[in-house]
Amino acid sequence: MYFHGTTKVNEKNHLEIGGVDTVNLVQKYGTPVYVYDVALIRERARAFKDTFDQLGIKSQVAYASKAFSSIAMFNLVKEEGLSLDVVSGGELYTAIAAKFPMDRVHFHGNNKGKDELELALDYNIGCVVVDNFYEIELLQQLCMEKNKKISILLRVTPGIEAHTHDYILTGQEDSKFGFDLQNGQAEQALIMTLESKYFNVLGLHCHIGSQIFDSTGFTLAARKIIDQLYNWHNKLKYFPPVLNLGGGFGIRYTDEDEPLSPDSYVKEIIIEVQKRTNYYHLPLPEIWIEPGRSLVGEAGTTLYTIGSSKDVPNVRKYIAVDGGMSDNIRPALYEAKYEAVLANRPLDVVEDSFSIAGKCCESGDMLIWDLPLPKIVNDDILAVFCTGAYGYSMANNYNRIPRPPVIFVENGEDQLVVKRETYEDIIRLDLPLESKINS
Ligand code: LLP
Repeated sequence: MYFHGTTKVNEKNHLEIGGVDTVNLVQKYGTPVYVYDVALIRERARAFKDTFDQLGIKSQVAYASKAFSSIAMFNLVKEEGLSLDVVSGGELYTAIAAKFPMDRVHFHGNNKGKDELELALDYNIGCVVVDNFYEIELLQQLCMEKNKKISILLRVTPGIEAHTHDYILTGQEDSKFGFDLQNGQAEQALIMTLESKYFNVLGLHCHIGSQIFDSTGFTLAARKIIDQLYNWHNKLKYFPPVLNLGGGFGIRYTDEDEPLSPDSYVKEIIIEVQKRTNYYHLPLPEIWIEPGRSLVGEAGTTLYTIGSSKDVPNVRKYIAVDGGMSDNIRPALYEAKYEAVLANRPLDVVEDSFSIAGKCCESGDMLIWDLPLPKIVNDDILAVFCTGAYGYSMANNYNRIPRPPVIFVENGEDQLVVKRETYEDIIRLDLPLESKINS
């Protein structure tokens, strides 16, 4: 079994994270509960940022907050000196509430609303990543009304396919995101925005996909974009100060996954950008990246209590936990794989394999198939690893199941950073029927 970060087994044969016994956490907070190893998030943040700094490359590392956003998480991102990528008014509002430095906020999205862009302009955010022609018009109109100028990046699709699950490909030509680099749309968008007095065009952005294990996709994308920048440099006499290559750096969910380390991704990207810009005698742009999953994914563990079980003779043994696709929709949505152990006795001898079912009313609500575990007794605690990215942020109230709380652990201390939803919360927005039937 592979343990990430500070996760280990203590002398009581209990799983410990951040110096805190997970059995104690369960007694204190109940289950299901998401636990984040803060030291590991800091380690990851520093690995990305320090690599740029040590090589003297101007950069911004923006945390892609869709992976997990909360006020405490944004406070942590601020402490570590990273920037922040938001994709909706809700994420932006969370950043405002967390008092995140607005000049380090980058706003993404393929259909930003007028109210969302207004919020961004009113709070003077660092830049808007403009996605389409509709947005150019809308943003320009709003800047005119507010008499403001905004820094922008243009999101382009460089036509690179990253080798990952189809559902999470975003960089290929046939994509809902961005301006196509090859068919002239990106050039048209660049000319339009350069001509506008309301825009400060910082440069280009691309994001080629997610859970990518090598650097080839990133370096190919960088090369394609710089080739285009060279053409534009000659034709339009413009060279942008910023090249943003997005996120997508892979993590190790199971031993089938073999990602590079953060510093290796960064170094290989830097080498390619340096090589290509040198080749054309162009200046080196600032390099920005947007890791999400690779900052928080491995740092998150979900603890569940095991309840019912079902034995289908000669087929499979099922055991059910007190959560499921409501707190982790990734197995149902992407066939995502996870590893897990019993948190209350991780070193006990493995006896059999069990398939872990969620409690939602849907056959597809299975978290893990055929997991080797010791003999199960009632109230055993299951720790599912690597749930820190797109777990809480994609959690939902299917079957009106309240969302679990989030706990940060570090240096032997635990802190509640998102409260458990209550049944009261569940019905908070409901209104009774105004009956039209005469009684
Ligand atoms: N930047 C942009 C523009 C993105 O669209 C994304 C992810 C990221 C950065 C961060 O990517 P990461 O480093 O986290 O891979 N729900 C899916 C992932 C969707 C990712 C969408 N965009 C999942 O659970 O795997």
